[in-house]
Amino acid sequence: MSNLIINKIVKRYGDIEVVHGIDLDIAPKEFVVLVGPSGCGKSTTLRMIAGLEEISDGTISIDDRVVNRVAPKDRDVAMVFQNYALYPHLNVAENIAFGLRIRKEPKDHIEKAVKEVAETLGLTPYLDRRPANLSGGQRQRVAMGRAIVRRPKVFLFDEPLSNLDAKLRTQMRAEIKRLHNRLEATSVYVTHDQVEAMTLADRIVVMNGGVIEQIGTPMDLFMNPANTFVAGFIGSPPMNQIEGVIKKSSDGMHVDVNGNSFSVPKALDVEEGQPVVMGIRPEHIFLENEGDSFSVPIKLDLVETLGSEALLHAAVGDENIIIKTGTEGGDVGRLSGVEQIYVPTARVKVFDAKSGLAIPERAD
Ligand SMILES: Nc1ncnc2c1ncn2[C@@H]1O[C@H](COP(=O)(O)OP(=O)(O)O)[C@@H](O)[C@H]1O
Ligand SMILES: [Mg+2]
Repeated sequence: MSNLIINKIVKRYGDIEVVHGIDLDIAPKEFVVLVGPSGCGKSTTLRMIAGLEEISDGTISIDDRVVNRVAPKDRDVAMVFQNYALYPHLNVAENIAFGLRIRKEPKDHIEKAVKEVAETLGLTPYLDRRPANLSGGQRQRVAMGRAIVRRPKVFLFDEPLSNLDAKLRTQMRAEIKRLHNRLEATSVYVTHDQVEAMTLADRIVVMNGGVIEQIGTPMDLFMNPANTFVAGFIGSPPMNQIEGVIKKSSDGMHVDVNGNSFSVPKALDVEEGQPVVMGIRPEHIFLENEGDSFSVPIKLDLVETLGSEALLHAAVGDENIIIKTGTEGGDVGRLSGVEQIYVPTARVKVFDAKSGLAIPERAD
């Protein structure tokens, strides 16, 4: 099991810098997901780890050896791509065996390894088929087989599920997770899909514009986003962000939103009159008082029924808010009469309006 240390890596294409000095320590066996919008530098970072892109500045180490100058084939990493990159004229067994053949491993060893991997991935019945005669999901499994069979120190995945339809994507996502639980190989996985990131990762790295916005476990990011970017990227629907102004009174601190008062937890490091963005997750808003909550009147605009849950689109003053609620009992008719919401004070996050950074609690 191998560690991977990324130290202040920079990528420049000519004069244009696209990755601005990223630091990341990945522990042995860890499954780390790089997530962020298109063009934020995820693939570039992954390709620098793989050795497919030159590193402009900084270092990458695998098992405490700096690999900046080590050729891709000597880094002992295996990469799985979105487009599978299979050899069309080779059958499944030959595709999986390809890397081992190149390394001139003994024939009986190759045969045994291919057999094992095919069994693991449910590919045994298809070993004689060519990629053209496989489904998308089967092709993706072959691509994974080719990576697994080499027993690399580090697995790298670049949007491996993006070409699959939604149902298959969910299924393959679970398979990748099971595979990781079994192989326990250090993995770096790139996706723009926050659901994939949340479900697969031990730790998520949220990237934006060539920098890291936050690193944390899925629940860290969900519960305590470091800034409004992460708050707006993680979660579905994402965290509500409501603009308001800090008001202090004898009974504590509030955010005033067009005359509606939202309590905030404990003593935050803020000034009276400071413009803030308040963050409340749609699933942290309730239609009944669950205790330690405050109520806010809303104007309901739209109810979307999703089956197991419903989304209420509403306004607080002139700010829009989305509420996620269960549909137990199946009576969604009652939802169209909602005029009031309850928000647990402890769930309210406050960000500085100017910097977008989460406001910490006062130290004293
Ligand atoms: N070969 C290249 N030459 C110039 N710019 C590039 C090249 N490859 C990628 N970029 C730029 O680098 C940025 C990051 O790209 P990329 O890492 O592919 O993003 P992501 O994988 O997060 O979608 C983008 O702005 C992209 O246009
Ligand atoms: Mg990419």
